[in-house]
Amino acid sequence: MNCIIRPCTVKDCKVILQFIKEIAVHYRVPPTEVKVTLEVLREDGFGAQPQYDCYVAELPPRQTNKEGGIVGYVLSSFTYSTWKGRNLYVDNLYVQPQFRGQQIGKRLIEKAAQAAVAKGCGQLRMHIAKTNEMGFLARQGGQDLTAKEGWSLFHFKEDALRRLAARSKF
Ligand SMILES: CC(C)(COP(=O)(O)OP(=O)(O)OC[C@H]1O[C@@H](n2cnc3c(N)ncnc32)[C@H](O)[C@@H]1OP(=O)(O)O)[C@@H](O)C(=O)NCCC(=O)NCCS
Repeated sequence: MNCIIRPCTVKDCKVILQFIKEIAVHYRVPPTEVKVTLEVLREDGFGAQPQYDCYVAELPPRQTNKEGGIVGYVLSSFTYSTWKGRNLYVDNLYVQPQFRGQQIGKRLIEKAAQAAVAKGCGQLRMHIAKTNEMGFLARQGGQDLTAKEGWSLFHFKEDALRRLAARSKF
C-alpha cells in the first residue's frame, strides 16, 4: 500500500476539521459540539505558539475515490508528569472507516510514538471512550490504566471551570 505518513500542514486543517466532526458522529455526539473552528485549528497548530502536533496518512488520490488523499490523522500535544517528566498526549487517532484494516492506524500511532521519543517523552497517553477500539491500543502495547489501577477521568466543563476560576482571590 502506498500510504505515506507526513506532518500535517496548515492546508490540511480543513480536512482535519472534517475528520474531527466524523469522530464526533462515531461517538454519537452532535458535530455541533465541536467548538473548534478552522481559524482556531490553524492558529493553534501553525501560529506563533503551536499547541499541537499532527501527522496525516495520505494515499494517492486515485486510491481514495475522493478529493485529496488524506484518510486519517493523529493529533497530540505535550503534557507533564511529576513522576515521569514530559508525556505525549494523543487527543485523536482516526482512520476513515473505508480505509481501516490496512495498518494505517498502526503506522500513525507508531509515528506519534517516534515523535514522542525524539522529544524525550517517557510516556504516551490517551483517553478512549469506546471499548471496541481498546483492542487496537492493547495490540500496540498500551495498557488500560482504568482497568489496571482504577483511575478516573475528571472533567471541569467550561461553566464549572469559570466558577472555579471566579473563586480565586489571588
Ligand atoms: C482505532 C483505529 C484508528 C484503527 O485503525 P486501522 O487503520 O483500522 O487499524 P490497523 O489496520 O492499523 O490495525 C493494526 C492492528 O490492530 C488490529 N486492530 C484494529 N482495530 C482493532 C480493534 N478495534 N480491536 C482489536 N484489534 C484491532 C488490527 O487487526 C491490526 O492487527 P495486526 O497488526 O495483527 O494486523 C480506527 O478503527 C479508528 O479510527 N477508530 C475510530 C476512532 C477512534 O476511536 N480512535 C481512537 C481509538 S485508539
